[in-house]
Amino acid sequence: MNARPQRLLITPQQAAVHELFVETGSMSDVARTLGLSQIRVREALVQYQRNVMRSHGLTPPPLREMLRGDVVTRFGISRAEIGGRPAKHLQSDPVISGNVKEIVGRSVMRGRQAAPPLSGSRRLIVTAAETGAPVHLGFWNNLQAFAARTGAELAVFRVGEVGLIADGQTGLRSHLRDGLVNLADVVEIAGDLRLAPNATRPLAGLERRRTAGWTVVPHPTVQLETLSRVRAEGLKVHLTSGAVTLPKMRGASLARSEVGAVIIEVSNDGHAHCRHLLASADGAGDFQDLKFRVSGASVFAGCRVEALTFGDIHHAHLDPEVARATWKGGRSRSLVDELRPRFMVFHDVCDFEARNHHHAADPHKRFAQLVAAGGDVRREMAASAAFLGGTRRKFARSVVVGSNHDLALLRWLREADFRDDPTNAVFFLEASLALYKRIEAGRPVDGIFEQMMRHLAADELGGVRFLKPEESFQVAGVECAIHGHQASDGRRGSMPLFERLGINATLGHTHRPTTRGGIYCAGVCQTELEYARGPLTNWAVGHVVTYATGARQHLFFNGGRFF
Ligand SMILES: [Fe+2]
Ligand SMILES: [Fe+2]
Repeated sequence: MNARPQRLLITPQQAAVHELFVETGSMSDVARTLGLSQIRVREALVQYQRNVMRSHGLTPPPLREMLRGDVVTRFGISRAEIGGRPAKHLQSDPVISGNVKEIVGRSVMRGRQAAPPLSGSRRLIVTAAETGAPVHLGFWNNLQAFAARTGAELAVFRVGEVGLIADGQTGLRSHLRDGLVNLADVVEIAGDLRLAPNATRPLAGLERRRTAGWTVVPHPTVQLETLSRVRAEGLKVHLTSGAVTLPKMRGASLARSEVGAVIIEVSNDGHAHCRHLLASADGAGDFQDLKFRVSGASVFAGCRVEALTFGDIHHAHLDPEVARATWKGGRSRSLVDELRPRFMVFHDVCDFEARNHHHAADPHKRFAQLVAAGGDVRREMAASAAFLGGTRRKFARSVVVGSNHDLALLRWLREADFRDDPTNAVFFLEASLALYKRIEAGRPVDGIFEQMMRHLAADELGGVRFLKPEESFQVAGVECAIHGHQASDGRRGSMPLFERLGINATLGHTHRPTTRGGIYCAGVCQTELEYARGPLTNWAVGHVVTYATGARQHLFFNGGRFF
């Protein structure tokens, strides 16, 4: 059967009315533009659909019945958006809905189900608008400018009860979209969900929604979760869109202190990258995406960023591909040289794989190290120090955050016995002597990691700053000195505890890229760490970039690149 409507049955006027209606979603706009009455527009739309059905060999319902129904819903525009009457004749088959085939090539959002681009990449910018809430005009104008500059399709999804989306002179309503949009199961935009606009955890309970690698949920609260998954499933990320509207009631919640959108980039290799575009709700709506800064509806290229907080390094297990893409580069420049951060922040630099306490009672691990001439603590620490030295940049300051794997050295010196460990006996005694001298001099014991790293480096790691445990280190108002293994007063760190701090902070440690409220967790630089093997994972390779505005983005390593 030929699924394409036979155009012969459709008159030119019906086709013109239909095309404009799909574009605007407004019968009154169509009537005004084409100089027709609204009744005539309605008739033309109904006749269009009747002709589509006939061309597929179907007998349409009686004209009178169809005229009573809601034409809006037949063309993929929600009733809530227009305020129309309940449909008398609902279309359930997309093939005969009349607009699908024609729109796919022009607009992914209208297409609902679209393939990745044949070449290059396809960009979409998705945001939400809450009914009855004021639009942040500065941010909206910046979004439009950025979409025009990057060739992105811009779509706004409604959040909230039936009501008007504020428009005025913003033109926002012409970008309204509705329903589920699926990009070849690479990205899904969950426009079919109806969530309360004031939900603080809009992604909670959506774990079973995992058809696509990335699921973007239209909602004002900024949140991102890396899903627990069977390793073979590949990356699964849920993130909200943020909103272009201001909260109707301003509370103290950090989650609603930003206006936002998501830029989605789908490449022809089937990989996608999604990033939040965020601006302070109290500001002018300026934001930055990688090297593009958008301000006053103008786009400035070649801008640098404030900080890159790398996913936990665990140097002994550092994925060479991740290292190359982040610091070394190849055919294209490395992430660091592309974004030129003022600060590079490192967590869990040294894995301490050689004598990690996780393996203390594992004779098989010890034997494997013996036959592979491994298990040399000095060599591992020297390699980690060389890594820190080799990743330095003139334009950036390297900052090392005190982390639990770094502290493993101190634990080893406290608990191990050099007489049982000939491989490490000399280094153990040297490091122990250094530690005892620190104690004698009244210096903090946890500084032994920094001391040994500088001692083992060729140039004592000049230009590299090791943060003290009690130190604060802020970049653009974001606390970057917390690794995440410890919360207040010696308690084990956890997301709920950090969220209760009510601060903006970027952490490491969980290896699971997450955004909740003001807390961002970076990922890791290798998802196959020995102690985390098994069929399940919730880790992902990813860094966090911080901009001068204080806004942040996760940069996931997906398809061999960060964007
Ligand atoms: Fe850690
Ligand atoms: Fe870690």
